[in-house]
Amino acid sequence: MKRTLKYFGIVMGILVLVLLVVGLYIGASEIPTYEIEKIEYTAVSTPETVARGKKLASMLCSNCHMNKTTGKLTGTQMLDAPKEFGTIYSQNITRDKEYGIGNWTDAELLYLIRTGIKRDGQYSPPYMAKLPLMADDDVNAIIAFLRSDDPMVAANTTPDTPSEPSFLTKMLTRLAWKPFPMPAEAIPMPDSTDVMATGKYLSHNLDCFSCHSADFKTNNFLQPELSEGYFAGGNPTLDYEGRVKPTSNLTPDVETGIGNWTKEQFIRAVKYGQKEGEPALTYPMVPYTQLTDKEAGAIFEYLKTIPAINNDVERAIY
Ligand code: HEC
Ligand code: HEC
Repeated sequence: MKRTLKYFGIVMGILVLVLLVVGLYIGASEIPTYEIEKIEYTAVSTPETVARGKKLASMLCSNCHMNKTTGKLTGTQMLDAPKEFGTIYSQNITRDKEYGIGNWTDAELLYLIRTGIKRDGQYSPPYMAKLPLMADDDVNAIIAFLRSDDPMVAANTTPDTPSEPSFLTKMLTRLAWKPFPMPAEAIPMPDSTDVMATGKYLSHNLDCFSCHSADFKTNNFLQPELSEGYFAGGNPTLDYEGRVKPTSNLTPDVETGIGNWTKEQFIRAVKYGQKEGEPALTYPMVPYTQLTDKEAGAIFEYLKTIPAINNDVERAIY
């Protein structure tokens, strides 16, 4: 008995030591880096692509990268990132060659946006968005916009504040979070005359599904429909003060989802944050004023066809 205890003690001692060494190693190490595949790509820029890119970037990048005072994409502290991820800052993505991304090639930008791997090979954790499913033309449009002479991205010398990722973030980048593969085949735009396909495309690529499913941690970014609680809400997103704002159930469930909503009510909520007889929707649900009624309506039509899930989410109103 005594002997067994002694061995048990020794084994536990070794285990604790190993964990300590692994912990110290991860704590002191950087987020892992990956090899960058060489790809050939130069953005195609026309007034139309730049305009389309501005519209997409305003919905997809500005929330995190815009300085709210100047309206420029010079980076800011991400007050709504979960505290356990560390202290996170988005970066200056204006055209400045030293402080922004003026020195990045179009291919390097494409590679980061698709895979999450930066030009120096370092992986960018989930607090930086990726677009693994977006059509090639739309990703091209975003890059064309970042290169344009729009005031939002005009060269600006605001220096970056480096993020301080937590131990948990570093550990997760070794165990759970991995870059997405570079798409092996071309990704076409959905047929613009197909309402269902357009609605599905927008609801996946404008990140609606990612906030409105059960949890960021259980989302399937490559096959959104397989995400836990697909569009049934309850994801504990945070506002700028770090308070929990659970997301709404957008499945066609009559009792707890949008089964009883009209298309007009949906469009008003999505584009202007307005709900009849209730306070306006607040951050992180931002008004998608850039969407046309047709686009917001297409999202509604698509959501009406997905499986209804009964999940009663109570609004947090502060
Ligand atoms: C949810 C917040 C968020 C969204 C949305 C987001 N970003 Fe980021 N972005 C970040 C953060 C945070 C970093 C810093 C990441 C890091 O430290 O690895 C970053 C880094 C970057 C970088 C690297 C800059 C550098 O100098 O290393 C680029 C380029 C970039 N983002 C472009 C974009 C584009 C384009 C979009 C829209 C399609 C976008 N981001 C959307 C938060 C975000
Ligand atoms: C960053 C996370 C986030 C993203 C992205 C997001 N939403 Fe939301 N959404 C929320 C939150 C949180 C609420 C609840 C807001 C509140 O209670 O004030 C909400 C509420 C809503 C509501 C109101 C539903 C109700 O029952 O009151 C609708 C409709 C909606 N979102 C549609 C969308 C659509 C469509 C998209 C994509 C174009 C989208 N959301 C993208 C977080 C998000």
